[in-house]
Amino acid sequence: MESPLSHPAMVALSLLLLVALYLARRAVLGKKRRYPPVAGTMFHQLLNFGRLLEYHTELSRKYRTFRMLTPTCNYVYTVEPANVEHILKTNFANYGKGPMTHDVLEDLLGDGIFNVDGGMWRQQRKVASLEFSTRVLRDYSSAVFRDTAAELAGILERGPAAKGRERVDMQDLLMRATLDSFFRVGFGVNLGVLSGSSKEGLVFARAFDDASEQVLFRFFDLLWKVKRFLNISSEATMKQSIRTINDFVYSIIDRKIEQMSREQHEFAKKEDILSRFLLEREKDPGCFDNKYIRDIILNFVIAGRDTTAGTLSWFLYAVCKNQRVQDKIAREVRDATTGDRDVGVQDFSSFLTEDAINKMQYLHAALTETLRLYPGVPLVSTVVGLFFFRIRGQEDCYCCWS
Ligand code: HEM
Repeated sequence: MESPLSHPAMVALSLLLLVALYLARRAVLGKKRRYPPVAGTMFHQLLNFGRLLEYHTELSRKYRTFRMLTPTCNYVYTVEPANVEHILKTNFANYGKGPMTHDVLEDLLGDGIFNVDGGMWRQQRKVASLEFSTRVLRDYSSAVFRDTAAELAGILERGPAAKGRERVDMQDLLMRATLDSFFRVGFGVNLGVLSGSSKEGLVFARAFDDASEQVLFRFFDLLWKVKRFLNISSEATMKQSIRTINDFVYSIIDRKIEQMSREQHEFAKKEDILSRFLLEREKDPGCFDNKYIRDIILNFVIAGRDTTAGTLSWFLYAVCKNQRVQDKIAREVRDATTGDRDVGVQDFSSFLTEDAINKMQYLHAALTETLRLYPGVPLVSTVVGLFFFRIRGQEDCYCCWS
């Protein structure tokens, strides 16, 4: 049977109805809607680029909800709890990443969870909640984090800082440690960035950091697509970084596939996320291609790496400023693990069992307080109108809390 919509009159009628609905909505909302005040433009954001979060916080204190104008779309920022609840909870289905954000982030994030909406997002949420919460992965990631923590403690113990002679950049060490950890959980490969033992790993890490930073500049660079097309300036560097990242990641995926075909039995025991995906694909060929696996796992690394390193850096900063809290944490950790015995750094990590960690309630509270004071992700962005009309001047919504 012929579809009713193939009839030209039906198409014209549907279009007419849509236009009428749009005009009616504009007539009603246009009168009633009160737009949040304009607090600045893209130009002001560029002027404050080095202190963007502080700048937004100042504006949030003044206005609570405000607009920032840019040539492409207007951004609405809000710290109002009712708005945040509306956007992230009650009306969640009407918000998402949207095509502009997808375009900007695609080279790095691809179709990973941070860059997709709808079916793809739901599929990855399902995979994440099923796969990431399995005992196998939890035990494996705990072991990986324990190993890296012991390695980090060893570096500090042997280094000049232990003798009080030199300062150490803890944030840099933590960024290296979390990149090693999340990469190993994700791809089953030790990057060796913390120890500096692998040149290939260091090249990847540099490209990964450069691309993560560069991709943010695109939000403020109206010409980024032209630059990418001409392969000049920042986009030429970006292209090189993305190539380095992709070559490295795809070579790991290829090696794993080879290993899987060689050691069928042994491979089934592998615990990293890449191996789990490859085993899943064997059962259901075609469920994920290599590009989708690359996107999913790289998004996982990005999700965990900076947030964890940033939060731990702030935690150390806060604890250094508060001797009483530091002492209480040290006491609690000793009580839950070795007591007053001195076992050395390497042996100490074996005392960090799940049971012992569950006893560290004061430490947990101190970490939670760190997140409250220094939120690891202070700003979440989302686009309004995935399923309804886009309203000019209200196109993009940023919720921030800090
Ligand atoms: C201090 C540490 C962390 C903080 C503060 C944090 C915060 C957040 C926030 C605010 C979001 C929502 C982002 C948005 O909607 O745009 C998010 C999403 C996400 N986080 Fe984390 N996160 C942390 C650690 C981690 C770790 C360790 C992992 C992985 C092991 C992870 C995996 C994810 C994933 C997969 C999402 C996307 C969820 C979705 O889109 O449905 N996060 N995180």
